[in-house]
Amino acid sequence: MTDPSRRSFMRSLGVLAGSAAVLSTAPWLASCSADKQAAVTGERARIALIGTGSRGQYHLHNLKLIPHSEVVALCDIHQPHLDEASQLFPEAKTYTDYHALLDDPDIDGVIIATPLGTHARITLDALDAGKHVFCEKAMALTLDECKEVYERYKQCDNVLYYCMQRMYDEKYIRGVQMINDGLIGDVVGMRCHWFRNADWRRDCPDPSLERLINWRLYRETSGGLMTELASHQLEVCSWVTGKMPSKIMGMGDIIHWKHDAREVYDTVNVVYKYSDGRTISYESLISNKYNGMEDQILGSRGTMNLATGLYYLEEDNSRSGIKQLLSSVRESVFSAIPAAGPSWRPETADAYIPHSILDGVTHVNNGQSTIGADHDGSEDILASFCQACITGERAVNVVEEAYSATALCLLGNKAIEEGTTIDFPDEYKIPYMKF
Ligand SMILES: NC(=O)c1ccc[n+]([C@@H]2O[C@H](COP(=O)([O-])OP(=O)(O)OC[C@H]3O[C@@H](n4cnc5c(N)ncnc54)[C@H](O)[C@@H]3O)[C@@H](O)[C@H]2O)c1
Repeated sequence: MTDPSRRSFMRSLGVLAGSAAVLSTAPWLASCSADKQAAVTGERARIALIGTGSRGQYHLHNLKLIPHSEVVALCDIHQPHLDEASQLFPEAKTYTDYHALLDDPDIDGVIIATPLGTHARITLDALDAGKHVFCEKAMALTLDECKEVYERYKQCDNVLYYCMQRMYDEKYIRGVQMINDGLIGDVVGMRCHWFRNADWRRDCPDPSLERLINWRLYRETSGGLMTELASHQLEVCSWVTGKMPSKIMGMGDIIHWKHDAREVYDTVNVVYKYSDGRTISYESLISNKYNGMEDQILGSRGTMNLATGLYYLEEDNSRSGIKQLLSSVRESVFSAIPAAGPSWRPETADAYIPHSILDGVTHVNNGQSTIGADHDGSEDILASFCQACITGERAVNVVEEAYSATALCLLGNKAIEEGTTIDFPDEYKIPYMKF
């Protein structure tokens, strides 16, 4: 966490935001352009954290590297977590009731890193208290809560961010820009998956704390795999297409972690269909990690794998000499093998040397951590929020993207529960959405 290169993350965001082409792909970057960053030099946003568990402490480590932030208050209802956070920022005031924290006039912005079931209530209370808000994904546990938060946001002037960090991850931004520029042809479909082999269960020192510590496993506090994992990936699909699917069907179950009283599925398969026939195929399983985590955008001329930072062209005329040489060696090896098996061999992505979206080092999140991955955009979106706490400038479309992604997650769960294909309900559509 002390890598000094991380200090440059705002600078690189500023450079990205300087390009008109990038801004048309990621308009939310406009609020953190280099000149706007320079304008807040020397100022510091007074930040409070509500929810000092694992993700909250991850944000605290990032805040130590954000020069335009000052952590002034911490809140948690679980004393051991509050004590751990206090060790990172001993000067910060501590609270066990977030309402008391929100009464403090010396706080500009609050970060909410509590369980999903509390996101909407705390966000509404913080906005009503006049604070700027950075809330962890997903937006809320129910569609009605999403709508209520969205409407309150539209009525007030406060800044509101959701931690959809792929929106600030350079390989995603550049990759989506390449898609918009036509590199992979027409986008004909999307395949996203997230596989882990970990039960999500945390050690619980006292049974009375089970639902607080293991909130992810219970439906009153968690939407399971859809809100915890798919939310990030479905956001990318809406971002790429600029559209929303109109029909949702899915299946899910508890197939492996059966005996620990959990209520959320440990496997889900959900298909989202757009009005033009395209689909998003989404799959997640937490009892096998072979496939890892990928966000694949399938085009008529290639495939953009945004999670790995690589792309593949169907007919590749642009490969370097060394890549062509490797390829022809491989082809001659295969053609020398006597045809004992099928004469047809599938064209797989493995047999192809892909291109990188970014020059130089690409940071790839293998999706196995439940806390976060370095350089995945989380520090950038948080730095952008801290700047917004000083300027009061909202980041374009961040709330709308979070609303759209959360709605897709919650509707995925609904489709699984009902066992039918459901239509995107009219009452939860917002003007931002195109179907
Ligand atoms: N963006 C990402 O990549 C990412 C990664 C991990 C977690 N998250 C999100 O972060 C949030 C927290 O996840 P976590 O793994 O840190 O959970 P956690 O259980 O480790 O931490 C949550 C903390 O909130 C506290 N809390 C609960 N109710 C509270 C209340 N009313 N007031 C104050 N504190 C309260 C708990 O005591 C706990 O310390 C979740 O929404 C999760 O989805 C996001």
